[in-house]
Amino acid sequence: MKLILILCASIGAHACQRERVFRQHAHPTKRQAPVTFPPVLDTNEKILVDSFDNTSISTWSYYYTHGAHLAGRNKTMAQWTADKWSEYGFTSRLDEYYVYLNYPVSHSLLLTYPNGSTFAPSLKEEVLAEDDTTSYPDSIPTFHGYSFSGNASAEYVYVGRGQQVDFDRLEALGVELEGKIAVAKYGGPFRGLKVKNAQEHGMIGCIIFSDPSDDGNVTVFKGVAAYPDGPARNPTTVQRGSVQFLSIYPGDPTTPGYTSKEDSPRADKSNTAPHIPSLPISWVDAQPILQALNGFGTTGTAVNRTGWVGAIPGVNYSTGQGSNAVLSMSNIMEDVTTPIWDVVGIINGTNEDEVIIVGNHRDAWIVGGAADPNSGSAVLIELAKAFGKLAETGWKPTRTIVLCSWDAEEYGLVGSTEWMEEYIPWLAEAAVSNLNIDVAVSGPIPGLSATPELHAIGVEIMKKVAWPYRGTTNRTMYDVWMEEDGEIGVLGSGSDYTAFVHRGIGAIDMGAEGGPEDPIYHYHSNYDSYHWMSTFGDPGFITHKAMGEYLTLLLYHLSNDAVLALDPAGYVPELNTYYEDLTSTLEEYNATLDLSELSSAIAAFESSAGEFTSLRESAVSANDADLVTVQNHKARDFSRGFASQGGLPGREFFQNLIFAPGLDTGYAPVTFPAITESITFAGNETLAQEWVGKTAKAIEVAASMLKT
Ligand SMILES: *[C@@H]1O[C@H](CO)[C@@H](O)[C@H](O)[C@H]1NC(C)=O
Ligand SMILES: *[C@@H]1O[C@H](CO)[C@@H](O)[C@H](O)[C@H]1NC(C)=O
Ligand SMILES: *[C@@H]1O[C@H](CO)[C@@H](O)[C@H](O)[C@H]1NC(C)=O
Ligand SMILES: *[C@@H]1O[C@H](CO)[C@@H](O)[C@H](O)[C@H]1NC(C)=O
Ligand SMILES: *[C@@H]1O[C@H](CO)[C@@H](O)[C@H](O)[C@H]1NC(C)=O
Ligand SMILES: *[C@@H]1O[C@H](CO)[C@@H](O)[C@H](O)[C@H]1NC(C)=O
Ligand SMILES: *[C@@H]1O[C@H](CO)[C@@H](O)[C@H](O)[C@H]1NC(C)=O
Ligand SMILES: *[C@@H]1O[C@H](CO)[C@@H](O)[C@H](O)[C@H]1NC(C)=O
Ligand SMILES: *[C@@H]1O[C@H](CO)[C@@H](O)[C@H](O)[C@H]1NC(C)=O
Ligand SMILES: *[C@@H]1O[C@H](CO)[C@@H](O)[C@H](O)[C@H]1NC(C)=O
Ligand SMILES: *[C@@H]1O[C@H](CO)[C@@H](O)[C@H](O)[C@H]1NC(C)=O
Ligand SMILES: [Zn+2]
Repeated sequence: MKLILILCASIGAHACQRERVFRQHAHPTKRQAPVTFPPVLDTNEKILVDSFDNTSISTWSYYYTHGAHLAGRNKTMAQWTADKWSEYGFTSRLDEYYVYLNYPVSHSLLLTYPNGSTFAPSLKEEVLAEDDTTSYPDSIPTFHGYSFSGNASAEYVYVGRGQQVDFDRLEALGVELEGKIAVAKYGGPFRGLKVKNAQEHGMIGCIIFSDPSDDGNVTVFKGVAAYPDGPARNPTTVQRGSVQFLSIYPGDPTTPGYTSKEDSPRADKSNTAPHIPSLPISWVDAQPILQALNGFGTTGTAVNRTGWVGAIPGVNYSTGQGSNAVLSMSNIMEDVTTPIWDVVGIINGTNEDEVIIVGNHRDAWIVGGAADPNSGSAVLIELAKAFGKLAETGWKPTRTIVLCSWDAEEYGLVGSTEWMEEYIPWLAEAAVSNLNIDVAVSGPIPGLSATPELHAIGVEIMKKVAWPYRGTTNRTMYDVWMEEDGEIGVLGSGSDYTAFVHRGIGAIDMGAEGGPEDPIYHYHSNYDSYHWMSTFGDPGFITHKAMGEYLTLLLYHLSNDAVLALDPAGYVPELNTYYEDLTSTLEEYNATLDLSELSSAIAAFESSAGEFTSLRESAVSANDADLVTVQNHKARDFSRGFASQGGLPGREFFQNLIFAPGLDTGYAPVTFPAITESITFAGNETLAQEWVGKTAKAIEVAASMLKT
């Protein structure tokens, strides 16, 4: 699910359920020694890289983007994926879960002006002759997954991005919210949290619109032609997506904490999905609705909040009370408990107790999904093909490789969460890392987010990949990344690594995306299509190829090398950065906590990680295979220590005490989340102090696992 907000400071966030976020807490990487070009590859690396072919990737992309594949709706595509992986030597199967989903039945929206005349937004994206899949008869309507089925009719209020701080501002301005419909702008927090915040303020419905201000200078107002004629956003674009309360609970809302089999008991889902209807709309549909608020309430400029005023012509982004304009909305959904299919493909390693999980979701909100998620799906087939080629030489991985094509990610990471819940006993013992690729390509700039033990290998492998970039050649992925980004992000949520990270399994998430001057990626829209990708997103599929080579070489080294390529000491600088961030937050909130337990736990971790590294080095120089295995197992296991059984305050699913999605962001990460949010949300120093102790304890457990 993944999207990016160009006006924010830095680029390089990845995950399909997300928008570009500030790269909080990231730790700039120091430029390392110059990288040689062409990269020097050994025999196996060369076999893998040479197997990559942009033309076959485009064939896989074409397949995935020419048939509807909403969650739970296309078993043929799941089986095709399994068959492809089998053809290349992976033992493949479908893992079926029965999950709660809802599908759109009908919807409508009507604006009634005070004089009684009306405007009916189309709620549709225009059909384009140039883009074949926009006219498919089984095109999926614009709707919100897990949205509430119902009608609402009332006056409405513009609520900015719909974050809690936006509602605080409205309350301070004395705007009445109770009984009204919220009109919110996309961007910032995960969309489900906008609906949650509206609901918690007594509002009875929520409309969310895309705003051209999030497209920077690449807009029709700046003279740039719109898709399909040019790279600007097609004005009728609608962003579909889930409105689950992602930061509270991902996965099937009716089976919290256990897997969804056909006969599983079903729990009440009312805390994890909205109770008020919502609809997504385009900016052209939003324009008259917002214009009807001009001159009523407080103007956008006077509201004076970042991101409040957008760029729709003739709109003042006023709060709107007293406009006497009324919205009537209807959103009718069909609730189902239905099978979904995760495709699982395995090559056993010689060490069966060491497993690498490589995942990408398959389901999309639209017939296309050329970026989200099927750029990743196409890459995964090409990866399977490359490993097939390598296996023909007699190569066998040291560690077991598990490829996963997740279903129902878009509704709320459902396929990966249910699978984790089924296999957690095995995963807790054997999982080394989760390598996640969702939107592999939506533009040309490489980006990574990862848990810290994967930073060193994540950077090293970039030096082995040739990265074609804006017409230049002879540069590695590392060169381009250092120039454009150079920071590895912290994992929040928004894609399928989440379930793993919150059980203490390390993960990396990767994807290439556009910068402020690049073609607009039509996130969760019909225009995220093969035609857009091959015309604007990645003509020639050359970035797909480079991204695929990166994931393949990373997987090769993690699954092959005798010394497991994880660096627990990578946590040391990160933990120190998070600690400094915490002290700044405390200052900002005038909170006083005793952080001594936390600082001594970080010091203990530093010392254990140092001992671990020296012992591993001496095991290697002494050629002591048994000791290498012991160290490999410690590297595999230590991060389990960061997961706390009871979970974070008020959200049991999220167990990682080092990083988590922010309660009111959904995508963007918060570090030392339990401590930080006890201050920033609960405003409770007693609670925060308790979590200082628990967080310190978790770090000490991780430290001791590196020692024993
Ligand atoms: C499933 O996807 C395939 C490939 O895109 C497509 O050919 C087929 O029509 C789809 N099936 C359904 C039921 O939509
Ligand atoms: C009613 O008000 C709307 C919005 O101000 C305006 O566009 C429309 O022309 C008006 N209709 C009539 C019949 O006056
Ligand atoms: C848009 O263009 C202006 C003028 O060239 C420039 O100052 C600004 O930084 C650009 N904005 C973005 C987001 O690129
Ligand atoms: C809206 O803002 C424009 C300036 O951007 C101003 O000229 C106009 O009067 C405003 N309209 C209302 C109804 O407040
Ligand atoms: C807007 O808010 C900032 C602080 O957040 C303040 O410095 C500034 O004076 C405010 N501007 C107006 C017009 O109220
Ligand atoms: C909800 O709104 C739709 C569309 O206006 C209408 O057809 C339907 O009868 C309404 N349902 C209820 C229960 O009011
Ligand atoms: C892989 O290992 C599992 C567990 O030991 C075993 O059940 C399975 O048959 C093996 N698969 C192959 C293809 O050897
Ligand atoms: C790029 O590298 C190749 C060798 O791989 C070399 O032949 C060529 O001259 C280089 N091109 C440029 C522009 O440096
Ligand atoms: C693959 O790349 C080559 C060289 O860049 C290009 O000529 C070709 O058109 C590409 N294939 C596809 C299917 O885009
Ligand atoms: C912290 O204290 C300062 C000075 O007393 C005050 O201006 C500020 O509003 C306080 N901040 C918070 C978040 O309470
Ligand atoms: C603050 O947290 C403590 C410890 O969990 C709890 O006992 C107390 O009730 C909380 N205070 C408030 C005002 O919620
Ligand atoms: Zn996605």
